[in-house]
Amino acid sequence: MNVVLGITGGIAAYKGAEIISRLKKKGIDVKVIMTENAKQFISPLTLQTLSGYPVYYDTFKHATENYEIDHISLAKWADIMLIAPATANIISKVCHGIADDLLSTTIMATRGQVVFAPAMNTNMYKNPILQDNIEALKKRGYMFIPPAKGLLACGDVGEGRLAEVDDIVAEVVGLLRQRDDLKGTKVLVTAGPTREYIDPVRFISNPSSGRMGYAIADACRKRGAEVHLITGPTNIKTPVGVHVYRVETAYEMYDAVMSLFGQCQIVFKTAAVGDYRPDMVSSQKIKKDADDLVIRFVKNPDILKELGRRKKNQILVGFAAETENIEAYANKKLKEKNLDFIFVNDVSKTGAGFAGDTNGGILLCADGDRLEMSITKKEIIAQRILDVIIDRKLDK
Ligand code: CTP
Repeated sequence: MNVVLGITGGIAAYKGAEIISRLKKKGIDVKVIMTENAKQFISPLTLQTLSGYPVYYDTFKHATENYEIDHISLAKWADIMLIAPATANIISKVCHGIADDLLSTTIMATRGQVVFAPAMNTNMYKNPILQDNIEALKKRGYMFIPPAKGLLACGDVGEGRLAEVDDIVAEVVGLLRQRDDLKGTKVLVTAGPTREYIDPVRFISNPSSGRMGYAIADACRKRGAEVHLITGPTNIKTPVGVHVYRVETAYEMYDAVMSLFGQCQIVFKTAAVGDYRPDMVSSQKIKKDADDLVIRFVKNPDILKELGRRKKNQILVGFAAETENIEAYANKKLKEKNLDFIFVNDVSKTGAGFAGDTNGGILLCADGDRLEMSITKKEIIAQRILDVIIDRKLDK
């Protein structure tokens, strides 16, 4: 379990030393990146000694010494990036995509969770510019451990003190623990569109990118699950450590799903399955001799409905993309397909459409509960859906 601790230039920088030693006592590996200003408040030597690694602050140092590109290797190494203390400057830079030093470039490059623990003068903290930036980052899935109230180093009293080290460490440990909460669980995920062929060179399909399903597969794998991903054609890279089965038609997906279903405990049916297929597939390319072309479509099997019929102890999670009456339609699917959960999004809304990087919607539970999830990165939606399922269904 790896944490990159980013320390920025505020008086609370000295608390970085305590954070490192507390995380290390919990068996967590910590590497430190400091900004130039942070070096005014605490010596790199102290942090190097505590972390057991060189302290990183020069973007180009190792590039010339041993060809390492630090901001990329650190970004990949980090399961979590904790920025504590986080100044108004680093928060606002990240919010606006500015990457002009080792810390900001590493934050931009990481795929791990980024957690900010802000600390600054209370008026700076309350400044609406900073507050807007914090809100914008939260919407994109960045996490914040809010500062505490009290006497500040500058003599002012108010909100702005770095949160208690205990609370920061507990938050990080909690996030890392999530990583194992699906250990021993086999998960089946379907993703992407299906293609229903008309002739050897033409098909009907839909604009599903597969990103939501891939994000679910990746999130499950990161939490320790054995993941089987059955995917229609997509342009995205397959997540590392996941078993991938490529299919094209709804029928191929049906066969692949049924052959794996018996051994899996959770199924995420994220794929946008074509409901109909042409009743005849021409074995040769259709020539444009005729003035019109009539194709008759017949219904494909409803894979998820069939799983609902066959299910024993499995947890079934459906996905519904709707354009109107979204909750009513999704509830109907939840019941008719015998699901445990269904995530429904309104594809007509900006940010919750088919092919983008973000999603947002409502997770409906079979017990009647509903949880709204505001628009954010698909990776974060995947994590939130898993949090709910694990909380309610898995006794871990
Ligand atoms: N689904 C499936 N097999 C199908 C159609 C849908 O497994 N032939 C699954 C999808 O993967 C999704 C859920 O059913 O998890 C809901 O899909 P959606 O297309 O929204 O619903 P449909 O049941 O196809 O209903 P409609 O198209 O009428 O909205």
